[in-house]
Amino acid sequence: MVEKYHYIIYNSYMIYTIRKYGDPILRKKTEAVTEFDGDLKQVFADMLETMYAYHGTGLAANQIGILKNMLVLDASTEDKTILYALANAQVVEHSKEKTEFEEGCLSFPGINEKISRPSAIKVKAQDLDGKELMIEATGFLAIVLQHEIDHLNGVVFIDRMTPIRKMLHAKELKELKNICKKALK
Ligand code: CO
Repeated sequence: MVEKYHYIIYNSYMIYTIRKYGDPILRKKTEAVTEFDGDLKQVFADMLETMYAYHGTGLAANQIGILKNMLVLDASTEDKTILYALANAQVVEHSKEKTEFEEGCLSFPGINEKISRPSAIKVKAQDLDGKELMIEATGFLAIVLQHEIDHLNGVVFIDRMTPIRKMLHAKELKELKNICKKALK
């Protein structure tokens, strides 16, 4: 787990623009992080600040235009801080049992839909200093980790919707794509 001081030490942040549905970078697989230096910590700090600025729960680096395997998340509850900044995260084990949860995504503003995912997972990752971690997650944390790790592999939550549920959002998705096309011009 990342202690808050890891990013509080950085007193200047950059709030990035969130890349939206239709931006090709959301479909790209990110590259492994190999250098665990000050620049990496600064990007993690910026990612956390960007996530909080947009009231998100998690953020993957390609959502801010950086094609690196980095994610941040804050799944804290009232009595427990659950804050992660992870590099090279991958799901190495998952339960057969699935859970359904209504998800949203900063890259798909206004769209919320129930998604079914394995209810328990094991994630292998590295922390800010490159130390290897094995995270066993269930509940909300498992959902957020899977959502963000999907992003890092170019997969977005609409890919996990059942065809009928995805169809219910067809109009909103089309609108988002059109807005994005105009913005990218
Ligand atoms: Co997302």
